Amino acid sequence: MESKPMSQSRTIMTELVFPSDTNHHGTMFGGTLMLYIDKIAAIAATRHCHRPVVTASTDSLDFLSPIRIGEAVELEAFVTWTHRSSMEVFCVVRAENLFTGERRVTVTAFSTFVAVDENNRPIPVPGVHPENDDERKLHESAPERYQHRMERRKTRYSSTESGAQ
Ligand SMILES: CC(C)(COP(=O)(O)OP(=O)(O)OC[C@H]1O[C@@H](n2cnc3c(N)ncnc32)[C@H](O)[C@@H]1OP(=O)(O)O)[C@@H](O)C(=O)NCCC(=O)NCCS
Repeated sequence: MESKPMSQSRTIMTELVFPSDTNHHGTMFGGTLMLYIDKIAAIAATRHCHRPVVTASTDSLDFLSPIRIGEAVELEAFVTWTHRSSMEVFCVVRAENLFTGERRVTVTAFSTFVAVDENNRPIPVPGVHPENDDERKLHESAPERYQHRMERRKTRYSSTESGAQ
């Protein structure tokens, strides 16, 4: 299958933070952000392979600074690496104070999506390649993250049915 540039799956989503999006500290509720991240990452993965996808895992979800009511949140996601049926998607969330123009990175996350057929079985996806230095760094470091996920999967789910260890 032909390899596609990372830019082909790049997806952007912007939201305004309302009181209903916040927690009792007056900052954005992490669960709402996780929903947005899963949605935008699913769109990026589907844009890459043009097939139905499911979330297999999310790792390295780091909340770096709080987001306040009235700020805009901008999410950016794209496929950084693929294996056979799985795609790693990187998502970065930036918060923006719309009155001062100050922007900051608030969350970064890596998710893995798997393309599936009509029986929900994994199917192959096209490869992906970087076109600039930032993309190259994410692409080159991806096999190591994949390896960690596979080790975690093996140790967590091989010996107990519940996965609790
Ligand atoms: C994801 C899923 C399709 C994998 O099916 P499976 O029978 O375990 O298939 P395999 O072992 O062949 O793995 C298929 C791919 O998924 C990847 N994968 C499976 N579990 C993973 C995990 N926890 N983290 C990262 N990747 C994972 C494998 O590495 C493999 O990738 P590759 O083909 O690129 O090498 C299956 O576990 C599933 O349907 N899970 C539920 C998904 C879901 O409901 N998500 C939430 C709603 S969208």
